[in-house]
Amino acid sequence: MLLSSPGSLVATSFESHPGDAAALLAGMLDSAMDGIITVDHTQRVVLYNRAAEKMFGWPRASVLGQPLDRLIPTRFQAGHGEHIRRFASTGVTSRRMGDGTVVHGVRANGEEFPMDASISQLNTADGKLYTVILRDVTDRVRAQEERSAFAAAVNAVREEEKTRVARELHDELAQSLTALKMDAMWLRDQADGAPASAHTKLTEMLAMLDHTIAATRRIAADLRPLLLDDLGLVPAIEWLAHTFEQRTAVVCRLSYDESMELPEPYATAVFRIVQEALANVAKHAGASEADITIERLPGRISLTVRDNGRGFLAGAPRKPQSLGLMGLRERAVLLKGQVEIDSEPGRGTCVKVSIPLADEVTGP
Ligand SMILES: Nc1ncnc2c1ncn2[C@@H]1O[C@H](COP(=O)(O)OP(=O)(O)O)[C@@H](O)[C@H]1O
Ligand SMILES: [Mg+2]
Repeated sequence: MLLSSPGSLVATSFESHPGDAAALLAGMLDSAMDGIITVDHTQRVVLYNRAAEKMFGWPRASVLGQPLDRLIPTRFQAGHGEHIRRFASTGVTSRRMGDGTVVHGVRANGEEFPMDASISQLNTADGKLYTVILRDVTDRVRAQEERSAFAAAVNAVREEEKTRVARELHDELAQSLTALKMDAMWLRDQADGAPASAHTKLTEMLAMLDHTIAATRRIAADLRPLLLDDLGLVPAIEWLAHTFEQRTAVVCRLSYDESMELPEPYATAVFRIVQEALANVAKHAGASEADITIERLPGRISLTVRDNGRGFLAGAPRKPQSLGLMGLRERAVLLKGQVEIDSEPGRGTCVKVSIPLADEVTGP
């Protein structure tokens, strides 16, 4: 008779031939693409499949019955034992290792490599067995690193480009327009005997020049405020908060530490993150107040932009054309930072970013 579930079908078929079941299992373990290693409660290896052999470079014979240590980089060995003990105490049957990140192994040739790992535990008559399933993710991690490096380089080039264009607009175009304005004023003052229509024309020209000079300065500053390069982060953020308030009529409070000057690439990242967060407040929040807080903490910089506007469902799927928050995250991640977006409809929005500072910046 055929049984309904495939699990019980297999068990039934092998009941009379247990050796076949063992052979089937051994074949499966050795054809698996992932490394599979089982250790007993004393942390000695009792099962080590072919993929694990390939991954670590140790033959089965030299690993079976041995402690797991030679597969783990020295600096993680103590932590690993502790991890297993804690996992045992949870009673959870299986879970991913490494808190969502990769874990590290070491090959016979001493090379370290990143792995995705999951662990499971099973109580047997001979005590607890722990099985880890491992996947070598060297290629994936390398590709990620290359993408990040590329993104950082693209970002740096874009910033340079913006700086150059902003400088030319400011130094060349705005200066020439100002000189033209001087000349037009001179003409107006010389043109006493000229017809009234010429005076009107000159007055209109002067108004137009004023407008164009202001527009040029504004475009240059929006591209990249030269303040940021010339005077530093604090004046640049002050300018940002001030122009935001003028353009939106949202009351903007800014609190920061006076001594909070940061070198590149931190200054630009902090500036751009605050700029994007404020742009969102202006565009989406309908807020009456916005608060910017920048704090230099030991070893890191923390910044918060909070508004009292309409909020949104931060977990909702992103609209494909919305790139602002993604860019903001990207900037933080490129500097190994973290972004937390706290928002709920009717509750305002809080964008919180924490960026670790490199040792050279923090000083000894
Ligand atoms: N401060 C905010 N208040 C309300 N909604 C916001 C705020 N910031 C972001 N959002 C919402 O999140 C979405 C994504 O933002 P973003 O990625 O910057 O894209 P964009 O600003 O181009 O729409 C916005 O379209 C908006 O619905
Ligand atoms: Mg936006």
